[in-house]
Amino acid sequence: MSSYDVIIIGSGPGGYVAAIRCAQLGLKTACVEGRETLGGTCLNIGCIPSKALLHASHMLHEAEHNFAEMGLKGKSPSVDWPQMLKYKQSTVDTNTKGIEFLFKKNKVDWLKGWGSIPEAGKVKVGDEVHEAKHIIIATGSEPSGLPGVDVDEKVIVTSTGALELGKVPKKMVVIGAGVIGLELGSVYKRLGSEVTVVEYLDHITPGMDAEVSRTFQKMLKKQGLEFILGAAVQKTEATKSKAKVHYKLRKDDSEHVLDADVVLVATGRKPYFDGLGLDKLDMALTDRGQIQVDDTWNTSVKGVYAIGDAIEGPMLAHKAEDEGMAVAEQIAGQHAHIDYNLIPGVIYTHPEVANVGATEETLKEEGRDYKVGKFSFMGNARAKANFAGDGFVKILADKKTDRILGCHIIGPSAGDLIHEICVAMEFGASAQDIAMTSHAHPTYSEAVREAALACGDGPIHM
Ligand code: NAI
Repeated sequence: MSSYDVIIIGSGPGGYVAAIRCAQLGLKTACVEGRETLGGTCLNIGCIPSKALLHASHMLHEAEHNFAEMGLKGKSPSVDWPQMLKYKQSTVDTNTKGIEFLFKKNKVDWLKGWGSIPEAGKVKVGDEVHEAKHIIIATGSEPSGLPGVDVDEKVIVTSTGALELGKVPKKMVVIGAGVIGLELGSVYKRLGSEVTVVEYLDHITPGMDAEVSRTFQKMLKKQGLEFILGAAVQKTEATKSKAKVHYKLRKDDSEHVLDADVVLVATGRKPYFDGLGLDKLDMALTDRGQIQVDDTWNTSVKGVYAIGDAIEGPMLAHKAEDEGMAVAEQIAGQHAHIDYNLIPGVIYTHPEVANVGATEETLKEEGRDYKVGKFSFMGNARAKANFAGDGFVKILADKKTDRILGCHIIGPSAGDLIHEICVAMEFGASAQDIAMTSHAHPTYSEAVREAALACGDGPIHM
C-alpha cells in the first residue's frame, strides 16, 4: 500500500492535467489508468485520432479541388487507407507517450489498472489498496447509444469503431448531426463515401447560433453530405457487412429505410463510472446521471472530487483540462475559478466552426439589447488567396455598452481565431477594444477586427 496526497482516477485531459498540476504544486500524486496508454478518450480514440483523419482527408480535398488552379499539376493522390490509419496511430502514440514523459518529469506515479473507491480516502487498483487524502474522479464518458441500435463496432459503429474501419465504406449513414457525426461524416465524405446524416431535430448542431448552423449545413451540403432532418431513428438491422436504418419523419410519422455499409451512431455521450463503486459510497448524482459537485468540484463524499465529462457541463476536453487545473489548485489551498460562459466550442470540419458566449437566440430569450457586427471572409485577402473565403465572423455586443457578449465564426482557422475573443471577454472588453487593436496583414484575424469594426462605424473592406 502507498500513501498519496492525491490520487486521480482516469488519465484523460481532465485527469492527466490535474495530476501534473497537483505534482507541480508539491502534492504527492498518482494517476490510475487501466488502458495500455495514457490520455483517455481524447488522445486514444477521440479528438487526436479524428484530427489526424480530418487533416489527411482535407489535404486530399485540397489536392482534388484547388491544386490545379494554383498551378500544381500531376496525378491527384489516392487513398491508401492502411497507411492513413498508421499515420493516425503514430499521431496518437506520440501524444500518449508525451503524457507518460510528463508524468515521469513531474514525478506522478501511474497506477496501472482499473480503479475503484472502496471508501473515502482509499483507492483500489487490482489487489492493492492505496491511501489518498484527496481523490479526483476523472473517468470521462462513453457513447450513450440508442434503443434498437446494437453497436458491433464493425458495421454499426460509434466514434471508436469509425476511427478504425477495415475500409472506406461506399455508403455511410450517420445518426445525429452533432459534433462527432459532422466531423467524422465529413472525413468519410472527403475519402469518397456517400454520407447521409439523419438528425432528430429540424436543424444541425443543437445549441449553435441559428444563422451559423444554417450556413454550416449549406456548406456541408455543397461538399456532398446529405441531410435528413426531423427524423427519429427507430432501429437498425445489420448483417456482417451491410445495415438498414429505419427512421420516422416527425412531421407526418411516415416510415423510411436507408441502406448503408457502415452506420455511425453519434447521438451523444454519457458519464462513465463502471466499477468505481459509487453506489456503495452513496455518491449524489444529478437527474441526468452525472456526479453532483459544488462550485469547487467537491462531491457529496468528503475528500472526493469530480471533473470533466463525469460532471455536468459541455463534454469538452478543454473544459475538463480547466477543471483539472482548478481542482488541483483548490486542493493545494489556492483559489480557483472557471467562467463556464467563456469556454469555446469548436467543430474541426472544413471550414471550422467556433463559438464562445451568447448566441442571438439566447440574447433574444433574455430580452437583452444587442448589436451584431458581421464580416465575411470574402473580404479577407488572405482567405481569398487560400480558397477559404466561405464563412464569416459574427460578434454580438451589448447595444449600449459595446461589451462583447458572444462570437461565432465559421471559416478558416475559426478554432484558433475564437481565442482572441475569449481573452477579450475574460477582460470584459468592448468590440471597440478589438477594433482599435492592430491586427497583422494579411491574416485571417483581420476578419475578427472587421467584425468588431462592424459593431461600430463599419468595416473597411466590405
Ligand atoms: P451531440 O450531442 O453533439 O449530438 C447528437 C445529435 O444526435 C443531436 O443533434 C441529437 O438531436 C441527435 N439524435 C439523438 N437521437 C437521435 C435519433 N434517434 N435519431 C436521429 N438523431 C438523433 O453528440 P455527439 O456528436 O455524439 O458528441 C458527443 C459529445 O462529444 C458532445 O458533448 C460533443 O461536444 C463532444 N465532442 C466534441 C468535439 C469537439 O469539441 N470538436 C468532438 C467530438 C465530440
